[in-house]
Amino acid sequence: RRRIGVLTSGGDSPGMNAAVRAIVRVAISRGCEAYAIFEGYEGLVQGGNMIRKFGWGDVRGYLSIGGTLIGTARCNTFRTREGRLKAACNLVKNGIDALIICGGDGSLTGADILRSEWSGLLEELIREGRLTQEEAAPFTHLVIVGMVGSIDNDMSSTDLTIGAVTSLHRICEAVDNISSTASSHSRAFVIEVMGRYCGWLALMAAVSTSADFVFIPERPPSADDWESEMCEILKRHRKLGKRKTIVIVAEGAIDKNLNPIKASYIKELLINRVGLDTRVTCLGHTQRGGRPCVYDRNLATRQGVEAVEAVLRSTADTPSPMIGIRENKITCQPLVEAVKLTQQAAIAIGKKDFRRAMELRDPEFEE
Ligand code: F6P
Repeated sequence: RRRIGVLTSGGDSPGMNAAVRAIVRVAISRGCEAYAIFEGYEGLVQGGNMIRKFGWGDVRGYLSIGGTLIGTARCNTFRTREGRLKAACNLVKNGIDALIICGGDGSLTGADILRSEWSGLLEELIREGRLTQEEAAPFTHLVIVGMVGSIDNDMSSTDLTIGAVTSLHRICEAVDNISSTASSHSRAFVIEVMGRYCGWLALMAAVSTSADFVFIPERPPSADDWESEMCEILKRHRKLGKRKTIVIVAEGAIDKNLNPIKASYIKELLINRVGLDTRVTCLGHTQRGGRPCVYDRNLATRQGVEAVEAVLRSTADTPSPMIGIRENKITCQPLVEAVKLTQQAAIAIGKKDFRRAMELRDPEFEE
């Protein structure tokens, strides 16, 4: 009878609650106990009432609520050995031998470090008298399962992360709203969207709203004088009769020398070189909040089921799995590999190897 802890970590994303609900209910129906760990790793380090046993009814209504009801944090203490010692001690004291984490690549890496250090941490806790031999004895290993919750859709080895589609809906709705006022005044808007080092949200939003131009980190403009090239394209669109101009800029957009491309800079170009009355809108956290769309509720639920099954299949030798989705099939693959590819993709962008970055994110990527 396993005791499964669940926590959400890093930036919240719509669908995290649906994941928690599925994990709790599937765990219970498979004869396990479920524990919610509040405030991400912070709750694991602090223990006490931050770790609570959850019953079936505790997750009632979770499916359709945005954000994460059990809280999240970007926790620095967990990055220290002392933080992880406290976390291990709290897990043992609560009898939790498996942990499902829903978060981004950084959060999932942290969990795997805890697992790899597990026996050393327990030995140290026993040596220091913080745990007895008897208390620690049943906890020979810790099972870790990762689920990817992030609006950025920046994780390798999965087609989509929980929350990305909702965020895309939110962005498109905002762009549609902006479009009608832009058309009315014949204005231009430069719209900055989130995504960190990943341009998925910006690119998909541009395609879905028929934006005039888009800037993403993975494909910096290639022309030396890209400013003139962009201005010519925008003028041409106007000549064709368009009454609005929409330029979408990913927050991580860069030029080919890796200098950031800022919305304010694009605004000046549009005013001074295209002669357009231009405004900037930064969509900010409106992109991350709010109710999850059907797709994310569904994805999180299906992945939550698989996460519990992965816990039940795990042995001491199984590498920590990450639950993903490929071609609409829920997948379960080594977490460390997926995180490594994700981080290598960010490094490749830093080295201007943009094509490699795309291949690392998606092995089936073709130009
Ligand atoms: O990773 C999700 C994300 O929303 C990014 O798109 C953005 O760069 C970042 O988190 C913002 O983080 P915070 O909420 O800490 O400002």
